[in-house]
Amino acid sequence: MPGHDARQADTVTPRPDAATAPRRIVVGVSGATGIVYATRLLEVLRQAGTETHLVITPAAGMTRACETDLSAEDLRALADVSYPIGDLTAPISSGSFQTMGMIVAPCSMRSLAEIAYGMTGNLLTRAADVTLKERRRLLLMARETPLSMTHLRAMIAVTESGGIVAPPVPAFYTRPESLDDIVNHTVARLLDLFDIDTGAPRWGDEAAGLAATRAEHNGRKA
Ligand SMILES: Cc1cc2nc3c(=O)[nH]c(=O)nc-3n(C[C@H](O)[C@H](O)[C@H](O)COP(=O)(O)O)c2cc1C
Repeated sequence: MPGHDARQADTVTPRPDAATAPRRIVVGVSGATGIVYATRLLEVLRQAGTETHLVITPAAGMTRACETDLSAEDLRALADVSYPIGDLTAPISSGSFQTMGMIVAPCSMRSLAEIAYGMTGNLLTRAADVTLKERRRLLLMARETPLSMTHLRAMIAVTESGGIVAPPVPAFYTRPESLDDIVNHTVARLLDLFDIDTGAPRWGDEAAGLAATRAEHNGRKA
């Protein structure tokens, strides 16, 4: 993607024990700000050898145009398969189509609410509803601030149904030097929930110098 490198994606190694499951993830992109999370996620999943099935809302077309130089075709080309938002006959609309689960990144409050209350008005929210009913992993990278009680209640409802709400909140203990570092770390934490290791730095990781940071802190306290 122009302006963003994919260094992180080059280091991705799929976990061997994931080989038995169909290596296929549904990716939904809705109209919250942060479409870079979707592009990086698709790049990393491709590097990880995971088949991606993409559905994009019309509002995400607006954020794509506002936030990137990508065309709709460029975005779709990052996935293995992509579907029109209105195609409720698509494979991902049925639980019989096996997947590891679904990630909605970023997830708008509108899509969050539809998913939370089982209102499956388009293919993205239908696919998310299917993911919940099949008891598969559903990750919603919900993005809004500040949050109203309506948003918070929807997050509770989706969590009670087995979904995971994972907002894109940066960590600073990794000492990010760029927007890429922040995006890569957030995507990595998301993919941890699918047991896909992107090789991103972790707390306690000697190679990344994070263990040294902790040791230094403990030394100061002593
Ligand atoms: C540039 C831009 C940024 C937006 N950012 C957010 C956001 O961060 N969170 C959100 O819930 N909605 C955001 N919206 C509004 C959503 O796009 C709008 O609610 C839309 O109806 C969501 O539809 P969807 O869930 O079908 O994508 C944004 C809209 C635009 C144009």
